[in-house]
Amino acid sequence: MRKTDDITHVAVLGSTGSIGQNTLEIISHFKDRFKVVGLSAGKNTKRLSHQIKTYKPDIVSLREKKDADELKDMKWDHPMEITWGPEGAEKVAGFDKNDVIISAITGINGLRPTLAAVKTGKRLGLANKESMVAAGALINQESSRSGAEVIPVDSEHSGVFQLLHKENLREVNKVILTASGGPFFQLDPKELENQSVESALNHPRWSMGKKITIDSATLMNKGLELIEAKWLFHLPPEKLGVLIHPQSIVHSLVEMRDGSVLAQLSRTDMKIPIQLALTYPHRRESLLPSLDLSKVKALDFFEVDFKKFPLLEMALKALSREQSFSIALNASNEAAVHSFLKKDIRFSDIWEVVIEVVEETEERSVNNIEDILKIDQETRKRTWEKIRKRN
Ligand SMILES: NC(=O)c1ccc[n+]([C@@H]2O[C@H](COP(=O)([O-])OP(=O)(O)OC[C@H]3O[C@@H](n4cnc5c(N)ncnc54)[C@H](OP(=O)(O)O)[C@@H]3O)[C@@H](O)[C@H]2O)c1
Repeated sequence: MRKTDDITHVAVLGSTGSIGQNTLEIISHFKDRFKVVGLSAGKNTKRLSHQIKTYKPDIVSLREKKDADELKDMKWDHPMEITWGPEGAEKVAGFDKNDVIISAITGINGLRPTLAAVKTGKRLGLANKESMVAAGALINQESSRSGAEVIPVDSEHSGVFQLLHKENLREVNKVILTASGGPFFQLDPKELENQSVESALNHPRWSMGKKITIDSATLMNKGLELIEAKWLFHLPPEKLGVLIHPQSIVHSLVEMRDGSVLAQLSRTDMKIPIQLALTYPHRRESLLPSLDLSKVKALDFFEVDFKKFPLLEMALKALSREQSFSIALNASNEAAVHSFLKKDIRFSDIWEVVIEVVEETEERSVNNIEDILKIDQETRKRTWEKIRKRN
C-alpha cells in the first residue's frame, strides 16, 4: 500500500451505513495511524454532518444536490469540498490523498465508485459485494492494470483471504463459505411464504443494513458471496461450497488436497475484517475482547436445503454462466428486496419473481461498465413490471 506519510489516509464510501460507521469507529481508535480524508453518504445528512465535525475530511459527497447544498450553507471550521450524486461518490473514491478506500455503499450504486477506487491503484477495502457480482471480471482487469490491492471486507472472504495467504491454489480442493442460515433456517418451506418484513429483518447473529439482512434471510447473501469469491480468489465453480453454521464463529474453511481443513474463526463482528483491510499486512490489537471458545461450546455445521432457498441455487448456477446472468440476478434481487421492504410483495415473491426474470434474460458475456449498467437497468424494469402485474 502506498502511504502519503506515517498516517494512512482513508476514504469511506457509505460512511453513514453499518460498515461505514464500524470503519470510522476503528479509525477513531487508531488516531495515531489513520486519518479520514473523504466521506460519501446517501441521504443521512444529520449523521454525515456529525461525522464531518468529528473527522474533518477534505471532501464529502451526498446522493442529492439539495442535501449537498444544505451542507454548503452550514458553517464548518475547516475547508472542505462538498459534492453530490454518483459523480460525487466517484470523486471521493478517486481523491488523490487517499491511501485506502473502503467501498461500503449498498447495492449496484456502489459499482462506479468502486471502479473509480480500483483505477487509482490504491488499496480498496471491498464490502460492496454487488460490484464484484456484477462486474468481477472488469474490477479484476482494472486492478491488474492499476496495481490496486483489493482486500475483502466481507467476513467470509476476509477469512478465505487469510487462509489462502500462503497456499498454492492448485493444492486447494475446496473453499467453503459459512452461512448463519438467517432467521428462517429451521422453518418448514411452507412457513417461509408470508414471513413479515420485521421477522426477516430480525437476524439472529449480525446487525447490518436492511438490504443485506433480507438477503441473509433468503440466503441470497451467500449466493452473492459465492460469486464474489469466484472473482476475488480466481476459483472455478467446483471449488466453491457453502455450509450452514448457525453460531457464525467459523467464517470460512479451506480444504487442502492432503485432507487438512483450515478454518478462520473470530467473533461475529465486522470490526475484525474491516480492521484487517485497513492494517494488512500488519495486525493491530483488536477493540474487541478475545474469542472465548469455551463459552461458544458447540460449533455446528449443516448442509444447505437448496429447495428451501432457491436463490442460493440460482447463484450457484451463475458461477458457470455468462456475466449477464449474475448482473440480472443481482439487479432483479435488489429490485425485489426493495419492493419487499416497502411491503409491496410477499417474502416468497422475492425468489419467485427473481427466478422468472433471470431465466428470461438473454445470456451473453459483458465486460464494460455501460453494458453492465444497461443490463442492470433493463432487468430492474422487468422486475418492477412483474411485481406490478402480481399486485
Ligand atoms: N453490514 C454488514 O455487516 C456487511 C457485511 C458484509 C458486507 N456488507 C456489504 O457492505 C455494503 C454496505 O452494507 P451496510 O450493511 O453497511 O449497508 P447500510 O447500512 O444500508 O449502508 C449503506 C450505505 O450506503 C449509502 N448509500 C446508499 N445508497 C447510496 C447512493 N445511491 N449513493 C451514495 N451512497 C448511498 C448509505 O447512505 P445513507 O444511509 O446516508 O442513505 C449508507 O451510507 C453492502 O454491499 C453489503 O452487502 C455489509
